[in-house]
Amino acid sequence: MCGIAGYIGERENTSEILFNMLKHLEYRGYDSAGIACISDDVICISKDKGKISELEDKIHSDVVSDIGIAHTRWATHGQPSHVNAHPHTDCEEKFCVVHNGIIENHAELRDELEKKGHKFTSSTDTEVIPHLIEDFYEGDFEQAFVSAVKRLRGSFALVAVSLRDGDRILAARKESPLIIGLGDGENFIASDTPAVIHHTRNIIILDDFNYAVVLRDSVVVKDFQSGECVKKEVHRIDWDVKQAEKEGFEHFMLKEIFEEPQAVRNALKAQKDVEGIASKLAGYGRIYFVACGTAYYAALAAKYLLERFGIPSEAVLGSEFRYSTINSIDKDCAVIAVSQSGETADTLVCAKECKKKGAYLTGIVNVVGSSLTRVVDDNIHIYAGPEIAVASTKAYIGQVTSLIMLSLFIAREMNKIGEEYLREMLDNIHSVPGKMGEVLAGVDEIKKLAGEYSGKEIFFYIGRRQNYPTALEGALKIKEISYVHAEAYPAGELKHGPLALLEDGVPVIAIMPNDELLEKMESNVAEAEARNAIVLRVSEDGDFRVPVVDPLLSPLLYITPLHLFAYYISLRRGLDPDKPRNLAKSVTVE
Ligand code: G6P
Repeated sequence: MCGIAGYIGERENTSEILFNMLKHLEYRGYDSAGIACISDDVICISKDKGKISELEDKIHSDVVSDIGIAHTRWATHGQPSHVNAHPHTDCEEKFCVVHNGIIENHAELRDELEKKGHKFTSSTDTEVIPHLIEDFYEGDFEQAFVSAVKRLRGSFALVAVSLRDGDRILAARKESPLIIGLGDGENFIASDTPAVIHHTRNIIILDDFNYAVVLRDSVVVKDFQSGECVKKEVHRIDWDVKQAEKEGFEHFMLKEIFEEPQAVRNALKAQKDVEGIASKLAGYGRIYFVACGTAYYAALAAKYLLERFGIPSEAVLGSEFRYSTINSIDKDCAVIAVSQSGETADTLVCAKECKKKGAYLTGIVNVVGSSLTRVVDDNIHIYAGPEIAVASTKAYIGQVTSLIMLSLFIAREMNKIGEEYLREMLDNIHSVPGKMGEVLAGVDEIKKLAGEYSGKEIFFYIGRRQNYPTALEGALKIKEISYVHAEAYPAGELKHGPLALLEDGVPVIAIMPNDELLEKMESNVAEAEARNAIVLRVSEDGDFRVPVVDPLLSPLLYITPLHLFAYYISLRRGLDPDKPRNLAKSVTVE
């Protein structure tokens, strides 16, 4: 959802530094990009439509400069084009801004500014910001910036430079992420840590209503509402730089699928936290999950699991929760927000509202220090490491692992299961990474299957109970990266409508763990085969073969072959699985 970057220091190749920072933010959006550097009293802007990799010649110039800002865009207002690409400037090109988020009152501000004679060139909401700064400017860039920021409604992370004061970068945040990387005689600004880790491991995380004055050798953070200085903690990034590189894999997505066994092991490291949080959760009459996309399917799997233990719970999509479920939330509820990025606006706003209503709020988050981790009462980190491919894979595995563990501990706390069963299940989870390794070793067979089915224009995914979410996740993955229509259904529901769509050769992927519902699944499969659909089984002896595992853990093990399948279908269709069209990894607008 747009990546922004800034550099101020002593090096004179700012354009190159910013270009490389953008490459690490490309997962946030990739329909256009741009860089602005100040050189010899001129703001040199180069920008265009397209992915960063295609824009190297156009946006990375050799201009000598030691200060600049940059942007990679996921369009909200105004289609991807040269004029709509960031950075944007005021009428006289003295102020220059990049922005992530949505300015909700942009139409009203634009109208007001146009009446005063400001000339706009783009159809973005962002362009009002440099014009507002220009309008407020009376000799003090910082003051004009703060006055402009105070007029904005909506969400924003924004970074500005000016020819009026070419020695500082100003940055502000409300509901969109922004960090400052602290270097030696130089500082960096970015939407996320992978962009700065090659330069520094020390970062400041801006909070809502913070703005920062970033000079070469100092950073001052203030509150833009009160004007007061804010004391900020310096965080240390502790993951390895290599984790944000492809390390020989053709795509990040493939690398991340191959990291799924490790994602299980990493999530298991939080067992102590999980145990403590479970004892708190067990005291609540109602447990709700809120999440979006793939994280929602992980939450849904947990809901099924809790229900297996006789514990009522509800999993709701963030965008729906906010306007319906929220009305049932009070201090007797516990809410678990699941998010890889910890920045998804639809999830984040729900978490904040639930907190206001007095609910006990837990997060299951991957990105350490992200907004959600700072809103929740308690957080369970999944420690999956940076996930770069837009479509989530290893983070899903981490989320499901944490949620299975959490469900087991809650059930034990509520006396729904005994200690012995809990320990047996924990041992079983520890055996999953090895079994996933076996699935990954069969990659060539999955690749072959993908080759056979890559021409199909529709897929059905069916599963029951805790594997209905597995079917949803399998189908979402193929939709996201292969642009193929895929429907996921609880297997028993097929006969209530979707069966009408089954005809000769339609592939139906059936998730069939060896549990007491297997016979029911066989009947559903027979119904599909009777209509000449081609059924591909994910089972112990199926087309996608998985090792024997306790059926409660099947949502973990049974998805890995489907992640691989979606990846290879995308490749066979000549697409880029890491950067699906129209999507962004971190969606920071509602
Ligand atoms: C976007 C991504 C999905 C992701 C969803 C939720 O839509 O494209 O892959 O599942 O956001 O993201 P989160 O960071 O909250 O897990």
